[in-house]
Formats: sequence, structure tokens, C-alpha cells
Amino acid sequence: MLSKMPPVILVIGSDGQVGWELMRSLSTLGTVVGTSLYANAASLRLDLAQPQTIATMIDHVRPSLIVNAAAYTAVDKAEQESDLATAINATALAELGHLAVKMNIPIIHYSTDFVFAGTSHAPYQETDLTGPLGVYGQSKLAGENALINSGASWIILRTSWVYGVRGQNFLLTMRRLFNERQQVQVVNDQVGCPTWSRLLAEATAQIWCQIQYRKLSFSDIQGIYHISGAGSTSWYGFAQTIHQHGNYRCRLAPIASVDYPATAARPAYSVLDNTKIQKTFGIFMPHWQQSLNQCLADLPAHN
Ligand SMILES: NC(=O)c1ccc[n+]([C@@H]2O[C@H](COP(=O)([O-])OP(=O)(O)OC[C@H]3O[C@@H](n4cnc5c(N)ncnc54)[C@H](OP(=O)(O)O)[C@@H]3O)[C@@H](O)[C@H]2O)c1
Repeated sequence: MLSKMPPVILVIGSDGQVGWELMRSLSTLGTVVGTSLYANAASLRLDLAQPQTIATMIDHVRPSLIVNAAAYTAVDKAEQESDLATAINATALAELGHLAVKMNIPIIHYSTDFVFAGTSHAPYQETDLTGPLGVYGQSKLAGENALINSGASWIILRTSWVYGVRGQNFLLTMRRLFNERQQVQVVNDQVGCPTWSRLLAEATAQIWCQIQYRKLSFSDIQGIYHISGAGSTSWYGFAQTIHQHGNYRCRLAPIASVDYPATAARPAYSVLDNTKIQKTFGIFMPHWQQSLNQCLADLPAHN
């Protein structure tokens, strides 16, 4: 008897922090095909800044699900490259949505806490008013809206402060600086939730698994969901946990945002409320400190 062919899942941005983890966490649910900006042994080449190439890729792969983990994520650089950030984070989403409708393929997409202005003092819910402070957040919000308005079947997972064992992220940057410098200063007046890319990828796989096997209808579950590590901290608190884990000589000191000028403004408070994803999918993200300790245990001692 012939066995059923596994479904094909397309992961766009499979070389990024989240995309790389998705390649593994989705692999028990189907054949996972990855794309990256520069093709390598594990992925095909796709440049989202060239929207006309997206149709060719989707037509070639014929996936049952598209997971878009690609994005222009350089928050400060985006202020000078707003056209490119908008092309990748917004225009490409309109095209992806259009193709998804045409070919009847659902999309799971990621967005960010930077869609909020950060003036709240309570965790942000999905229905709260957005108000991005910079080009990155504006382009991501425009991408959310482009996907929503496309008519496709979609889920948007808004997350925050993503770190992991590879890629460019706060955890790896801090470890490098703690080894290189005598003192590192980190802002202590921006509060948010660190999120381990691995758990985000595993939650994505759980969501897709539930949609398929509980036969959930997209009209019932389609929406924006907040998903980040539980609890909250400042960048300084995040750095403290990393610092305590190693035996660094480097001193760590808190600093105010005003004394650490960056090109792009960042929300002072961007804690996300995970209640909706808990109630809909039964996904409970662990406390950020517990996840960070697990991730640190996965990394070699000093790199
Ligand atoms: N990082 C965070 O702190 C954070 C926080 C909140 C939300 N998010 C969201 O979470 C998602 C995943 O983020 P991440 O941290 O995994 O990002 P990441 O590590 O920066 O990876 C982004 C990926 O997008 C790819 N990419 C960039 N430009 C592209 C283009 N023109 N065409 C195709 N691919 C392109 C990159 O390819 P190359 O590797 O080849 O450059 C990279 O693989 C994004 O939607 C992001 O906005 C991230």
C-alpha cells in the first residue's frame, strides 16, 4: 500500500534566528523547504525585495503552508534604508498574501513589539492601539496590514527581543562584549520580554499541528497573537542573567537610554500579553529567565 506523501512547508528566511529553528521544529510535520537571501546547501535563493520572484518560488515548491520568518530586522539601519525595509517587510507581504489567496495556501508570519509606541504600563494586548516609533516598526505594521487585507488565510505572531544560539542577537553580542571589554553599559529603562527563537519555532509547529489535526477552521482562529517569553525585564536585566552565567571579568553597568543614543527610537515598554495564544492554542511560554538559562546551557562556555 502506498503511504501518503508528507505535506511541503515553505520557510522563507530559513537562515535567520527563527527560520533556522523552524527548519528543525517543522520537520516532523512535513518536508520543509527553506529559502534565504543567499542560497546555500540547505536553502533555495529568494529575495523578497524582488517581489516578482516570489511567484516563481511558490509555484516551484507548491507548499501546503508558507511560514515567513524573513524580514529586514536592522532597526537602526532601517532609518536610512526605509525603501528597502518597506519592500521586504511590507510590499513583499502584499505579494505573498496575493499568491496565497490565488493558490489557497495559508501563511504564518511574524511581527514585532516595535509596532507599539511603548507608552503603556500594562502588557500589550493584540487589540491595543499601535504606534511604531521608527521605520522598522512602521514597515512591520504595514506588512501586517498588507497580509490582513490580502484575503489570505493568515496567522500573525507578534514577538519580542528574539535571541538564540546563532545569528545576530543580544545574547551573542553580550557574550562577545563581556569577553572583549572591561566594562559594558546596557540600558535599564526599556522594558520588554526576551524570547528564545527555538521556543517560538516550536510554538509555531504546535499551532500548525493543531490546525491540521484538530481540523481548526482559519475563519475561527485567524488573527494576530502575541507570543513572547513570560515575565519582563530591562535590557540590563537580560544582560545581568547572561553575565551571571559566565565567569566574566568585565563589569556590567546600567545606563539610561538618553545616555546611549541610538539612531532609531525604541519603545520604553513593550511587554506583550500572551493570554490569547494560551486560550486559543494552549501554548504557555516559559518565564524568560528559565528559557535563557536553557539556551545558555546549549552554548559552549565562552564564545
Ligand atoms: N530579532 C528580534 O529581536 C525580533 C523581535 C520581534 C520580532 N521579530 C520578527 O521575527 C521574525 C524573525 O526574526 P529573526 O530575529 O529570525 O530575524 P533575522 O535573524 O534577522 O533573520 C531574518 C532573515 O530574513 C532574511 N532576509 C533579509 N532580507 C531578505 C530579503 N530581501 N529576501 C529574503 N530574505 C531576507 C535574512 O537573510 P540573510 O540571513 O541572508 O540576511 C535572514 O535570514 C521577523 O519577522 C522579525 O521582524 C524579531
